[in-house]
Amino acid sequence: MNKKYNAVKITDSVYWVGAIDWQIRDFHGYSTDKGTTYNAYLIMADKITLVDTVKKPFIEELISRISSVVDPKKIDYIISNHSEMDHSGSLVEMTELIGPEKVYVSKMGKKNLESHFHGSMEGKLNEVKDGEEISLGNKTVAFMESRMLHWPDSMISYLKEEKLVFSQDAFGMHLASTERFADELDDALLETEAAKYYANILLLYSPVVAKFLEKLSKANLDIEIVAPDHGPIWRGKENIRRIVSLYGTWAAQEPGNKALVVYDTMWKSTEKMARAISEGLSDGGAEVRVISLGANHRSDVATQVLDAGALVVGSPTMNNQIFPTLADTLVYLKGLKPKNLIGAAFGSYGWSGESVKDLSRMLEEMGVELVDEGISALFIPDDEALGRCYDLGKSIAEKLSKNIK
Ligand code: FEO
Repeated sequence: MNKKYNAVKITDSVYWVGAIDWQIRDFHGYSTDKGTTYNAYLIMADKITLVDTVKKPFIEELISRISSVVDPKKIDYIISNHSEMDHSGSLVEMTELIGPEKVYVSKMGKKNLESHFHGSMEGKLNEVKDGEEISLGNKTVAFMESRMLHWPDSMISYLKEEKLVFSQDAFGMHLASTERFADELDDALLETEAAKYYANILLLYSPVVAKFLEKLSKANLDIEIVAPDHGPIWRGKENIRRIVSLYGTWAAQEPGNKALVVYDTMWKSTEKMARAISEGLSDGGAEVRVISLGANHRSDVATQVLDAGALVVGSPTMNNQIFPTLADTLVYLKGLKPKNLIGAAFGSYGWSGESVKDLSRMLEEMGVELVDEGISALFIPDDEALGRCYDLGKSIAEKLSKNIK
């Protein structure tokens, strides 16, 4: 190996041995414009334990960082908290290299990893139950299932003596950095990236997130460090309280006084309508974000939806349909199951004019409460049409203000 990567000490016995992916820009449809990290951790207990692995192309980085602390062959146990390939992609190779006594996984983790690797992990996985503890000799790890945060197999591991939770995807973010701790980074950046991560990865599981937070709170664990599988590590009770509280807010999905106007345009007619609606919304007292899909990614729309209360979408009619960018974004949003939104559709057309009807149907299928039949404008919207757009914005802002607490 040519490159040398070092581990980073997190506590007396725990080291970060993950990988930094500076270049990734797409994570299953989510635009990761700041890259990410695949965090793995080494517990230097009597029984030396590796917590999670990394995405397969980064295995050399993982091995190098482990080797800066200990010969990987001396690792006794592996814990796989989550089966998705960004954390288990190196599991088969690492199991072969290390030859561990045990590879601990949840019940669903066993099922998923065995299916995923088509037999390569058969007979090598040791199931742990929700609430079960294992001894590492001088340390203890307790497991807690965290199903659907982010997959059915997900669990968190609590290293009691270090008051440290390995939380896998939960409380993480896609942010590449050489800083390992959240308190070394800007607060606004952390909140933005944590929100983007929640909106694009966990939003649809919000009811499960709320239950998990309740379970975590009831467990009454003494937690000083939360070490996720992506992005920086949270240390200190105040920082941990902050990210847990943000998760509580996001999981509640209460509508905010924010309206999104999301559109695409062919010859700027639908854009003119979007601008008129946004003026009405703003004059009506709503916070407004106007998002052109020609200039923005679907995952940025999802992030903005997280604390919005209204979604107004616009598309010209092209070939008797909506613009493909709208279809892409609405299908993506529908999967994320945003709640408690009101909305309406708008768009220009030349002859057939299906877009408003199609958009309205798609909004309804997403569970958005339609508060208007929508506005269509022939070719270039005139003052009368733009006036109707302005009025629509204003009336949505008024309805929105009644919906928020
Ligand atoms: Fe980071 Fe769901 O994997």
